[in-house]
Amino acid sequence: MAAFEPVLLANVGKPDSYTLSAYEASGGYQGLRKVLQTMSPDQVKDLVKSSGLRGRGGAGFPTGLKWTFLPANHPGPIYFCLNADESEPGTFNNRILMESDPHQVLEGLIISCFATKASTAYFYMRYEFPTAWDRVNAAIADCYRAGYLGSNILGSGFSLNVYTHRGAAAYICGEETGLIESLEGKRAWPRIKPPFPAVEGVFRKPTVVNNVETAACVTQIATRGVEWFKSMGVPPDPKIPRDAGSYGPKLYCLSGHVNRPGCYEAPLGLTVRELIDTYGGGVPQGRKVKAVIPGGISMGLLTAEELDCPLDFNGPGRYGCLGLGTAAVVVMDETVSMVDFLHNSCQFFAHESCGQCTPCREGTSWSLGLMKRIMAGQGRLKDLDLLLEIGDTIGIIPGTTICGLADGAAWPIKNAIRKFRGEFEEYIRRTNPAGWMKTDPVPAMKLVELH
Ligand SMILES: Cc1cc2nc3c(=O)[nH]c(=O)nc-3n(C[C@H](O)[C@H](O)[C@H](O)COP(=O)(O)O)c2cc1C
Ligand code: SF4
Repeated sequence: MAAFEPVLLANVGKPDSYTLSAYEASGGYQGLRKVLQTMSPDQVKDLVKSSGLRGRGGAGFPTGLKWTFLPANHPGPIYFCLNADESEPGTFNNRILMESDPHQVLEGLIISCFATKASTAYFYMRYEFPTAWDRVNAAIADCYRAGYLGSNILGSGFSLNVYTHRGAAAYICGEETGLIESLEGKRAWPRIKPPFPAVEGVFRKPTVVNNVETAACVTQIATRGVEWFKSMGVPPDPKIPRDAGSYGPKLYCLSGHVNRPGCYEAPLGLTVRELIDTYGGGVPQGRKVKAVIPGGISMGLLTAEELDCPLDFNGPGRYGCLGLGTAAVVVMDETVSMVDFLHNSCQFFAHESCGQCTPCREGTSWSLGLMKRIMAGQGRLKDLDLLLEIGDTIGIIPGTTICGLADGAAWPIKNAIRKFRGEFEEYIRRTNPAGWMKTDPVPAMKLVELH
């Protein structure tokens, strides 16, 4: 295996790794002690800013920069939400961190709250994570007992309370403003932005939302320093204005048709091929890769010819995907039908759309209707263009929706049809020999019946 030594996953697999005593024995909470004893909040903010850390939750926004958007000298309260909803299909790194090393996450959360002057943190966790729920709650209780949480933490004068909140079991609860609405006891309907959460978030107060893996990275930056963090990854691309680079370690979730699925830690910029072959042990039974989801289903698809795509914040975008997303890589071998893939994907997004925006609500359900018609042997070649028209017109990128769920629904459609059009056409011709060439409009009811 590569010379890289895992840091974020260093404790995973060790006995009782989730307990406070095991964490402290491995040097845990030294970063927090250093921060509270020797640094001011602004210095911690600058530290994280200069590390180049970008959020690991999907959008890759620079973490330190996000923290500077909080209003200066705000009288408070300032809130911090730890996004542990982990709803992107194929993604399970947050769960592993919470189950096996919850204190690494909590240490990063406490440091982040100190830097942002947040006095209350909400740990918003996906409903379906019972083990993580128990271990995080036990870890929080231990932190209170040990003086890492509560009033006057380690005698520093800084006080913080952390509350756990169970998610509402929907994909949209992971979108930061959907999460905030859900936390406030409402439906997780994403808010129109601006105002962004940094200005008006939880209970309309300034709020930071960060991912669990981002918090774990903060722990390591505080403990090991900026130089260590920037010693790995990919520097900014001079051709991309304001590119912040892709520094630090990353947790890659690998699943699907690989011999050794799992969560692997490596520097940002690992190629898909290296991940599949070196870490995943290749595709079972000597089969070939047909397609790869690079970062959760909403990021789209890579073909077998695109496996040298580097998994950094710019890599998948250069191959026509939406982005790095959560770096959850799902491998599909040559036995997988791309028609089945797209049908599944459309079903997921039609089910998960919250329905606020017409282009997303209608677009996701119409694309599912079209896929169902194709699957039922009533598809027309024209339907592929209709699907592309939907894909190209829904989402934040074309500017028609409130949140990015619609972009996530669009990318699998755009990539599957543009990169695998021949397979879709062959399927339609074979299953609808009498009607594949028709172009006349199909009554709307026909789609609804098949829905
Ligand atoms: C539909 C949708 C679902 C999302 N789900 C998650 C999620 O489960 N976990 C997460 O951390 N971020 C998720 N995000 C991204 C969040 O909105 C937000 O960018 C992120 O939590 C910020 O944390 P970070 O800067 O540390 O990455 C989602 C975004 C969208 C549009
Ligand atoms: S884009 Fe879709 S999921 Fe997001 S707010 Fe609009 S309808 Fe809801």
